[in-house]
Amino acid sequence: MEGIFPFVHTSFIQKATLSTHAISISFGCKIIQKIRLYPLEKRLYSRYTEIKFFVWLAKLFLGTGGYNMDERFLWALNRMPKTEDTFLSLLSLNEVRHARTFHESFPQYGPTPLTRLPKMAEYLGLSDVFVKDESYRFGLNAFKVLGGSYAMAQYIAQETGRDIADLPYNVLTSKKLREEFGTATFFTATDGNHGRGVAWAARELGQNAVVHMPKGTTQTRLENIQKLGAKVDILDLNYDDCVRQAAKEAAATPRGVIVQDTAWDGYEDIPGWIMQGYGTMALEAAEQIKAQSAERPTHVFVQAGVGSLAGAVIGFYANLWSDNPPTFVVVEAKAADCLYEGALAGDGKIRTVGGDMETIMAGLACGEPNTISWDILKNHVKLFVAISDDVAADGMRMLAAPIKGDPPITSGESGAASFAALMALMTDDACEEPRALLGLDRDSRVLVFSTEGDTDPERYREIVWEGQF
Ligand SMILES: Cc1ncc(COP(=O)(O)O)c(C=O)c1O
Repeated sequence: MEGIFPFVHTSFIQKATLSTHAISISFGCKIIQKIRLYPLEKRLYSRYTEIKFFVWLAKLFLGTGGYNMDERFLWALNRMPKTEDTFLSLLSLNEVRHARTFHESFPQYGPTPLTRLPKMAEYLGLSDVFVKDESYRFGLNAFKVLGGSYAMAQYIAQETGRDIADLPYNVLTSKKLREEFGTATFFTATDGNHGRGVAWAARELGQNAVVHMPKGTTQTRLENIQKLGAKVDILDLNYDDCVRQAAKEAAATPRGVIVQDTAWDGYEDIPGWIMQGYGTMALEAAEQIKAQSAERPTHVFVQAGVGSLAGAVIGFYANLWSDNPPTFVVVEAKAADCLYEGALAGDGKIRTVGGDMETIMAGLACGEPNTISWDILKNHVKLFVAISDDVAADGMRMLAAPIKGDPPITSGESGAASFAALMALMTDDACEEPRALLGLDRDSRVLVFSTEGDTDPERYREIVWEGQF
């Protein structure tokens, strides 16, 4: 909240819930009346602040969103107009099965664990909590490789006039195919995990990779990519500008291809394949829940940077459980809350966030939504949430040291975001309203995604062992 409101709230009401907002509203009005008595030049607020306050008031009465007082948790109910949902078919059961068959052909493939936390569920006041643990994915500590590898294979299939079904790992890596396709250079921008996946897949498939990383990226993340043989650097740009740079270089390079995990107008094939690749994770989780004799989840929480992952997971489940879909919640980092901002605006149009977007949730530090995903999210998400770094850190610590009897999970800063949001919703008094809107209670079975392990081990230890944030 900008303007006078942080003052009003933090000074007089420590942790008000939305139901107590009436007090702050009348108090806020009184302050505005008082300030108005001063001559214009002495006013401590601008007309802009005042307008913002009334817009905020209107939103509050319409019940579209809220926050708790220390701004640890922002939420916006999805009231955006529905569209024709044209991109949903991208995540059909058939398409996702193709992607999974492709991934299964890799010698490194194995489904990542789906961990059930019954004690944590009891503590949070839920029936079940399932955590899909991507720290075990292909030895790369994050889900991202699923997307890059599938998109690169689909691209090679297209270029060589084949069907993806005819390009399993052993064919893709064969001398014959390498001679036929030759060598391309795959460009990408990354906070770490996507670039690592692209570099890994390029190495496996005998291709070149060039990776740009945004400022603020840690040396550890860069070295993880360097080790895989890619050309990698950290630019003095934020993530979205790195994407533009990588796309520009790919266009200027002979046999250069941009493999970006986000879509924009006119660039949809590769990000569409990347999303289908992520579908493997969602399909595994659905099968694992069934194998544990559990019913389908009532709620699914998934974190978002550009929203490709969220679009993939939610799109797939909206198809899989089309007759009775779970309630979907998307979780962003507060510093990069472009989807939340879009939902709050409510007109269905994309909103972007710029600047450095400083957050420990490096994977979520993206300010420009994937255009395909945005369309899926608009049609299927119930609540958009943005959390602060300390909420994410609490989530990491709770997963690392759960209640006795539940297994621990190594979940990184971006990885823990969806669990962290669930934890805040169930334990923070200020979250009473969004909790009720979502219908989260003792009958709820919640699926969350831990999308990475300790991808930056030093940072992980600082947070989990030393209690930073
Ligand atoms: C660990 C992790 N989780 C979640 C995400 C978010 O994915 P998306 O950018 O597709 O929303 C990322 C993105 O890089 C990530 O690295």
